[in-house]
Amino acid sequence: MKNVVKVDPQSPQPQVIERAAGILRAGGLVAFPTETVYGLGAHALDAAAVRKIFAAKDRPGWDPLIVHVRDLAMARPLMKRLLPQFELLASRFWPGPLTIVVEKSSEIPAEVTAHRPTVALRMPWHPVAAALLAAAGLPIAAPSANRFGRPSPTRAEHVVEDLADRVDLILDAGPTPLGVESTVVDVTQSPPAILRPGGVSRERLAEVLGDVRLATSVADEILGEGLASPGMTAKHYAPRATVELFETAKQLQTRADELRGQGKQVGFLTITDDIERLAHTLFAQLRTLDAQGVDVILCVLPPSQGLGLAVRDRLLRAAGLSANASGADKGGRP
Ligand code: TXA
Ligand code: MG
Repeated sequence: MKNVVKVDPQSPQPQVIERAAGILRAGGLVAFPTETVYGLGAHALDAAAVRKIFAAKDRPGWDPLIVHVRDLAMARPLMKRLLPQFELLASRFWPGPLTIVVEKSSEIPAEVTAHRPTVALRMPWHPVAAALLAAAGLPIAAPSANRFGRPSPTRAEHVVEDLADRVDLILDAGPTPLGVESTVVDVTQSPPAILRPGGVSRERLAEVLGDVRLATSVADEILGEGLASPGMTAKHYAPRATVELFETAKQLQTRADELRGQGKQVGFLTITDDIERLAHTLFAQLRTLDAQGVDVILCVLPPSQGLGLAVRDRLLRAAGLSANASGADKGGRP
């Protein structure tokens, strides 16, 4: 593919980064690696560029984007005011897989935040993302670089699969280190609320914030209590196959035998005690099993500690269930 360029994940080649930065400055789209997943980036203060992101992903306009910044100096003008919880979290976890929702300033176009009064900010540590932010010299709005409703991309090949020629340039730095998205925490609420579990665990956030709660689940959203984080719809991470989850390997085995007896093609997500390894490969495994055309994907749920919470959340969503209400209807937005 002409628009895919390899880049060193540790020390990205300056000429490659400069080319990508030029495209962003001119209002184009660049897919780039972060420590979590690949993002689909555009100049965050250019409304026309931001609209291209929604078009390329087939993403509905009600789902706001994360704005990536190089440093605190770049973040400050994007916020209406500096909240103490923001400062606490940023000083402890940035750069890293933590997205902080704060009140937005007027610099941010309404398209970015889906007309919300808040903006989600994140400073990534991936050397390619950091170099791109530095070279472009502007905040980059970037959702995960997948077609809406598909698993997030953890390899450049996934971006090509989903977006191909809808993006001006794809920076290929190999697999992303973490494999699940950033934690999204809203500090405009008191106590702060985790809108999406992710790369920074709830336990680590609690160490810094003291009090932090898990936001209203998808189940509640379906029941009509409003969208805590609009992207948290059950269908967000759904593969094409049906996903079934189990508490024990024995239960999984029984179900696998039953399905095979019915002539179904059964796929398995790696069952491992190494939660980091599972997170790293989760989305790629879902894509591979889907490409193989299996009917059903089976997996044992990991415990909810640490990164396990994020993995459980993504698995429950892939299965069309919410984190707090297994057994809820497979739903989505009306
Ligand atoms: O790891 C990540 O966060 C990746 C990389 C590329 O940084 N990005 C990512 O973006 O996962 P996206 O768009 O796929 O997910 C962003 C989530 C969505 O659930 C969205 O609804 C939520 O953050 N979000 C964004 N702005 C928000 C806001 N102002 N208030 C509440 N939720 C917000
Ligand atoms: Mg996404």
